[in-house]
Amino acid sequence: MKEQKKVYIGMSADIIHPGHLNIIREGAKLGRVTVGVLTDEAIASYKRLPYLDFEQRKLIVENIKNVDKVIAQTTLDYVPNLLIEKPDFVVHGDDWKEGTQKVTRQRVIDTIKEWGGKVIDLPYTQGISSTKLNEKIKSIGTTPEIRMKRLRRLIQSKQIVRILESHSGLTGLIAENVKVNVNGIDHEFDGMWSSSLTDSTSKGKPDIEAVDITTRLHGLNDTLECTTKPIIFDGDTGGKIEHFVFTVRTLERHGISAVIIEDKVGLKKNSLFGNDVFQQQDSIEGFSEKIKAGKLSQVTEDFMIIARIESLILGNTVEVALERAFAYINAGADGIMIHSKEKTGNDIKEFCQLFRQKNKSTPLVVVPSTYNHITEDEFAAMGANIVIYANHMLRASYPAMMDVAKSILLHGRSYEADDKCMPIKAILELIPGTK
Ligand code: SPV
Ligand code: MG
Repeated sequence: MKEQKKVYIGMSADIIHPGHLNIIREGAKLGRVTVGVLTDEAIASYKRLPYLDFEQRKLIVENIKNVDKVIAQTTLDYVPNLLIEKPDFVVHGDDWKEGTQKVTRQRVIDTIKEWGGKVIDLPYTQGISSTKLNEKIKSIGTTPEIRMKRLRRLIQSKQIVRILESHSGLTGLIAENVKVNVNGIDHEFDGMWSSSLTDSTSKGKPDIEAVDITTRLHGLNDTLECTTKPIIFDGDTGGKIEHFVFTVRTLERHGISAVIIEDKVGLKKNSLFGNDVFQQQDSIEGFSEKIKAGKLSQVTEDFMIIARIESLILGNTVEVALERAFAYINAGADGIMIHSKEKTGNDIKEFCQLFRQKNKSTPLVVVPSTYNHITEDEFAAMGANIVIYANHMLRASYPAMMDVAKSILLHGRSYEADDKCMPIKAILELIPGTK
């Protein structure tokens, strides 16, 4: 019997639609179909993380008619798999002839030419696109469970997870939707930071745990209602252990992915004051007890309690901070946030590097408010997993609002301020359903 030709098809297969089935059907007419399902890491390297995880997507494709074999494609680049599979044909929708996928296609053509392989571009199935379906899914929303789990998945599949502060529905919408294309790759935020500083400030209150958790959660509900991305909650000191266990459960029930608590006791002051105000660090034992109690109280496996170390803020050494980090991990912490207000970022760099020499896997969080010249790629290289832009939405809005308020006072009318404001039409169209 004549040996059948080999056909390779790469796909994310997050939302399977008739366009995918058409490609597989047409591929099967040419030979035996192997589908390379892109891993979460491969997808996250150029766009939003898929809704379904790799194993779920693989299982679905394995059960599609005409699929002979399913393998993992661990990079956006097809070449590593092509060199192993040596297919006679690579079949894809012809949409990849244009835009950012052009380069990927050319590399496929050049590679399989070596053994006489050919690329088959099938006419794109009109009216259906994963991007459009993705938008529709977003408009349907999410569940607390899916949202909560997403942070761990992001940490596993991305070099660096990018988190933006949000203190309202509107800033949540910015974090959810803003996108910039950088050299063919969509950059977007992976989730939101619910900051004690900006929650308090936007209520006209000091950042001293005066705005209680219940009130903050009422506010956070606005963000939950209009977004799908994961949220990291700034839990301040976590309060008394007896209170913290309730906070953990409440956050978990809302689908918040993680709480970060700082190892301070007494009246909390914002860390960026450093030693300009009186701030007292908890003992290692005391804080470890709080972490343990929190971990025991959570219901799911997914919720994360991240321990925030204030040693550098209070003028102590990197060694002292490292000792605390390892103790907190022993107590059950799912991650470490190392905080500093040093401008150079040298202490953070040293901490991350020394930490990673001993611990390869526990997620590390950095908050570069003062050492803001360091790029995300540089943090990733240091071994950090999450970067939080902790207060930027509020800090951006206040000067803009002050400017307009002053202009109105100065001129006795708003005409001069109009260019500083978004057009009326734009604000009316900003939120769907306003009309
Ligand atoms: C916050 O955003 O409230 C934080 C980070 O806790 S910082 O303000 O830098 O302490
Ligand atoms: Mg805070």
